[in-house]
Amino acid sequence: MLLVGSSALVLSAAPDGSDLYAKNCAICHEALAPPNQNHAVLGAMGSEHIVYALSAGSMRVQGSHLSGAERAAIAEFLTGKPVDIQKPAAAGKCSGVPPSRRGNRPSTVPSIVSVTLGFTL
Ligand code: HEC
Repeated sequence: MLLVGSSALVLSAAPDGSDLYAKNCAICHEALAPPNQNHAVLGAMGSEHIVYALSAGSMRVQGSHLSGAERAAIAEFLTGKPVDIQKPAAAGKCSGVPPSRRGNRPSTVPSIVSVTLGFTL
């Protein structure tokens, strides 16, 4: 009875990133061959970047059978950093309105034309 209870506890625990990495990633990433990105190289990446790679990036096929919690556990195991699930969506994006949507084109385009052509259209 005690044995059954303790194995249920193990099953309900958070996914083991180390074990998941060994079973799903190490065959390529520790092969001392391309991609030449072993745990030390992967560990220098952002934890959110690893989750992104496994969800929608170049590792999406390798990550497709893993749950979100498993992807995060692998990323946290590799980087030692927690995964901030808010970050991937905002990562690499500038804050503020893009220049093309600032509405300043109508006023700047004619002035560029007038400088180039010497007269205003
Ligand atoms: C079949 C071999 C293979 C397996 C299995 C594999 N990878 Fe990869 N991984 C690669 C290759 C090859 C690249 C380089 C891809 C590229 O540069 O486009 C790569 C690149 C990456 C990158 C960098 C992606 C980027 O865009 O910066 C990460 C992160 C990564 N792998 C994580 C993982 C994790 C975590 C696992 C396990 C769930 C895994 N990989 C399983 C072969 C593999």
